[in-house]
Amino acid sequence: MKKISPLSRSVRFAREVSTDVAQFTESISFDHRLWRHDILGSLAHAAMLRKIGVLTKSEAIAIICGLDKIGREIATGEFEWKPELEDVHMNIEAELTRRLPAGAKLHTARSRNDQVALDMRLWLRDEIVLLLGEITDLQRALVSLGEKNSDVLIPGYTHLQRAQPVYLAHHLLAYVEMLERDCERLWDCYSRANVCPLGSGAIAGSTLPLDRVLVAKLLGFVDAGGKPQLTQNSMDAVGDRDFAVEFSAAAALLAVHISRLAEDLILWTSTEFNFIKIADAYTTGSSLMPQKKNPDIAELARGKTGRVIGNLVALLTLLKGLPMTYNRDLQEDKERLFDTADTVRATVRIVAAMLQHTKINRAACDRAASDPALLATDLADYLVKKGMPFRQAHHIVGKVVALAEKNGKPLNQLTLAELQSVDKTFGRDALGVFDLKRAMAKRNLIGAPGTKEVAKQLARWRKLLQA
Ligand code: ARG
Repeated sequence: MKKISPLSRSVRFAREVSTDVAQFTESISFDHRLWRHDILGSLAHAAMLRKIGVLTKSEAIAIICGLDKIGREIATGEFEWKPELEDVHMNIEAELTRRLPAGAKLHTARSRNDQVALDMRLWLRDEIVLLLGEITDLQRALVSLGEKNSDVLIPGYTHLQRAQPVYLAHHLLAYVEMLERDCERLWDCYSRANVCPLGSGAIAGSTLPLDRVLVAKLLGFVDAGGKPQLTQNSMDAVGDRDFAVEFSAAAALLAVHISRLAEDLILWTSTEFNFIKIADAYTTGSSLMPQKKNPDIAELARGKTGRVIGNLVALLTLLKGLPMTYNRDLQEDKERLFDTADTVRATVRIVAAMLQHTKINRAACDRAASDPALLATDLADYLVKKGMPFRQAHHIVGKVVALAEKNGKPLNQLTLAELQSVDKTFGRDALGVFDLKRAMAKRNLIGAPGTKEVAKQLARWRKLLQA
């Protein structure tokens, strides 16, 4: 078997690892994507080692230039990753040291345990910022669709049964609200990821007089007021992956929200609803049935939610039995975290694009929204306004609905005599309740789907989402 010699093995190992062990333990095949953040962390560490006198000025300059050159080679694809060097940290450090002797000083008072915790936090911060940008675009797409169709009404559903009329915009803005909470959760996660673990060493810090505050400042680990944020317990710092779990949980809930939106869109494209038409470029055909146009993007958005939830469960399971502190198990966090970040970002982006290419079928929406049964509750409210207790009004309108059904007519076609045969409280004005426009004008509580309120909410979101 071919023998290889990873850099992390000191002379105390009598034998080198076999190829299959190297293959089993390597992470370079997936953690190479941390390279930018690994180099950034090393640059800050080198600057700090210079400040405390571990590196001479010329050594520090050589290391900084060397890291910069390696970074450029990685970016252009010239850099050769070596699986026998296990991971991104060893690959970069080993190559630096091969090129310049001072490279051997870079790992002073640093372990891969605090290094990987640092890289992951740096990477996640960037990822959260990018994801937040995509979510905002999705919110904008929802608001635009609502604005373009601000007068379109649809039935609102509970139990997937027609309930009460709502503006389509109101329905879409419900998702904007959900996405806003996702953004808040992600920012919250950002604030706890934004704490610098470097200086924790393998588990117990260092006997050297590191300047942790300088490193934190250089890497932007500061709060809104500019105060440096440092981990306060070296054991916690190297064993902690809460930030990964928190992100995965926030991402899973985001994915669930998108999945629910996708489900609505899928229903709405069906012939039965026919409320929307997704542009051809965002639908796919069937290999067998020539008439089919399938909402595959929405279906995949819904489907991918399963793996995002799965990734969260995998991470929690990974952590639940680990003793303090760093254990190699933690290497398994990366693929789950990367997959979640990639999946939700791609999903948010494509769903936003699809919504920008979606048209509303007004005629079908109008037909559905003009079902007078949607205003049965308004008829009960009418009786309440005449002084009747709501429970009684509910009962009476139930009887009216049954009568309409028996007489084979829609609710709004009943005569005054028919209404009064159920209860004398009904007056001439009772049937006015079924004027949809007026009915919508009356729903003006904060958060209700009334004409003025929805316009107000659209304007509020338009302003909040301004670029
Ligand atoms: N590749 C490792 C990981 O992802 C880096 C840390 C290795 N530390 C160690 N003590 N072997 O977790």
